[in-house]
Amino acid sequence: MNVFGVDIGGSGIKGAPVDLDRGDLAEPRHKVLTPHPAAPEPVADCVAEVVRHFGWSGPVGVTFPGVVTGSVIRTAANVDKNWIDVDAAELLHERLGMPVTVLNDADAAGVAEMTFGAGKGRKGTVMLLTFGTGIGSALFVDGRLVPNTELGHLELNNHEAEKRAATKVKEDEGLSWEHWARRVQKYLAHLEMLFSPELFIIGGGVSRKADKFVPLLHHIRAEIVRRRSGRRSSHRWSGSRASDRTRRARPPPAPRS
Ligand code: BGC
Repeated sequence: MNVFGVDIGGSGIKGAPVDLDRGDLAEPRHKVLTPHPAAPEPVADCVAEVVRHFGWSGPVGVTFPGVVTGSVIRTAANVDKNWIDVDAAELLHERLGMPVTVLNDADAAGVAEMTFGAGKGRKGTVMLLTFGTGIGSALFVDGRLVPNTELGHLELNNHEAEKRAATKVKEDEGLSWEHWARRVQKYLAHLEMLFSPELFIIGGGVSRKADKFVPLLHHIRAEIVRRRSGRRSSHRWSGSRASDRTRRARPPPAPRS
């Protein structure tokens, strides 16, 4: 069975039909630039454009970069604040005339990874993090999602974590991989102290470059893997194998006596 997936992101609105049996895109995705301001009406126009590009008619799943309860948007850190309190499913259903489901973007990525990818069959506490314009988080306990965790907004050294360690910050501040990895390291260590996950799955666009920074992360007890989909040029996902794992856990440093 196919559904249509659309991601509303800070820099682009991307969509494609998704094959739910294979857990893969059925066609290469189409992207339009996010309008500025990224307010509900112009974004709804872009979503409609992406859906029409494929001549799609059927159920549409939309991922949004903010807290979503039911289908109502509660926060909008990196898009226009006019989204707050908007029933996004209702707005998009009116625009498209198709059934629409809306979910937080990181939660949706997490559900996909737990169903088809790096987290498949994993019990215990699993945390997916997406590094992009902001930092998204999805927390799973024995495969069940704890929605809207929003751990990118945790305070770290007097700063909001995503203002220090999102990929956009690396680009805006021209940070080296080493410098940025030190920030990511502090962030993961903090999350580890709070949640003790057994597995971190690294998602977001930067996961394609996992080899550049994941080997620089040390003293994290949890296993760290990149998301299953690592290739830009192809819409086919590579499959999660042990050899895809970019790094295995190292023991924490011995306490000083
Ligand atoms: C938002 C989250 C979102 C993340 C990634 C954060 O700024 O608050 O809801 O998951 O960015 O887009």
